[in-house]
Amino acid sequence: MKVGLAGLGTVGASVVRLLARRSDELAAACGRSIEVVAVSARDRQKDRGVDLSAVRWYDDPVALARDADIDVFVELMGGEGDPADAAVRAALSGGRAVVTANKALLARHGTELARLAEANSVSLSFEAAVAGGIPVVKTMREALLANRVDRVYGILNGTCNYILTRMEAEGLGFEECLAEAQRLGYAEADPTFDIDGFDAAHKLAILTSLAFGTEVDGEAVYVEGIRSIETADLDAADELGFRIKLLGVAIRAGDGIECRVHPTMVPKSSAIARIDGVLNAVAIDGDALGEIILVGPGAGGDATASAVIADLADIARGDTVPPMGRAAHRLEPYSRARMRRH
Ligand code: NAP
Ligand code: HSE
Repeated sequence: MKVGLAGLGTVGASVVRLLARRSDELAAACGRSIEVVAVSARDRQKDRGVDLSAVRWYDDPVALARDADIDVFVELMGGEGDPADAAVRAALSGGRAVVTANKALLARHGTELARLAEANSVSLSFEAAVAGGIPVVKTMREALLANRVDRVYGILNGTCNYILTRMEAEGLGFEECLAEAQRLGYAEADPTFDIDGFDAAHKLAILTSLAFGTEVDGEAVYVEGIRSIETADLDAADELGFRIKLLGVAIRAGDGIECRVHPTMVPKSSAIARIDGVLNAVAIDGDALGEIILVGPGAGGDATASAVIADLADIARGDTVPPMGRAAHRLEPYSRARMRRH
């Protein structure tokens, strides 16, 4: 299976490395090899620590998405607009499957992209867009089909959880912790998306749509980040028996769904209070199954690449689900919400 990959940063370079490292196992598991044959990024000269000598280079990711020689287009550039949007549309329109980790793009244009994918009978996969390496999209789209979900909530941003954890445990300053999260490749290119809660809100919009089968009105989502949290707040919460976590919460409420992202005091005895560092946790309450909590690395190159490659492996095996999931009869396309800056 020939892959065209746009974006060779933290996640993209990890995908190239991990595909090379696991090529034999993946070929055996999928029945065919998965090969990156063409790439695009901004700076051709940058040393990315990966061997790109045998792949075609495109300065323009949209041209790469139109390359008739590729089977799958992987979008790992980020950003809710062009070139990511144009490139994904070009690939889908050309009948190529798309894998993306871009939650900002999906939160804004997911509905249209899902329809475009279905109109062209190709898949649109986005496991890495929610909670990094945790297989929550697959769980939601496939494993929980027999359930009516009444609540989904959790820690959806690794950068914020990393910052809060280190501030609390080591008394470090906010800026110092953020700089370290950036150095480790956890933060978005524009880290205000992380610390002001919008990245978690994008993920919550996708999760909400998958869980409740509805589009999300971005204007109706309350979004508050962790910018104003100080060590003194964490200490005060500690004295009262709580920890402060940035949570994304979506709850069925009457005829509607309540959606919000904000710092939350959680009892130390709760499972969610014990999720530290870059780990994310997603709790899903299904009527048949009860509550499950999925925990794992929510950001970082290799963890995210693991999810991207899981999507690629599904496509290689021909084991894909429609963008809306197998329960297309009950699921509306996921969110086209645009998260507003407050
Ligand atoms: P990144 O390190 O900033 O890498 C972005 C890559 O895209 C770079 O290689 C950059 O090229 C390329 N790029 C940007 N604009 C471009 C353009 N106009 N034309 C061609 N190439 C362009 O970002 P990342 O952390 O890997 O994240 C990529 C995507 O994955 C984002 O959607 C992000 O939200 C998502 N994601 C990230 C993580 C994580 O832990 N980092 C986890 C889950 C999801 P240059 O290298 O030449 O500048
Ligand atoms: N910046 C994001 C985070 C990357 O810190 O959670 C994973 O989506």
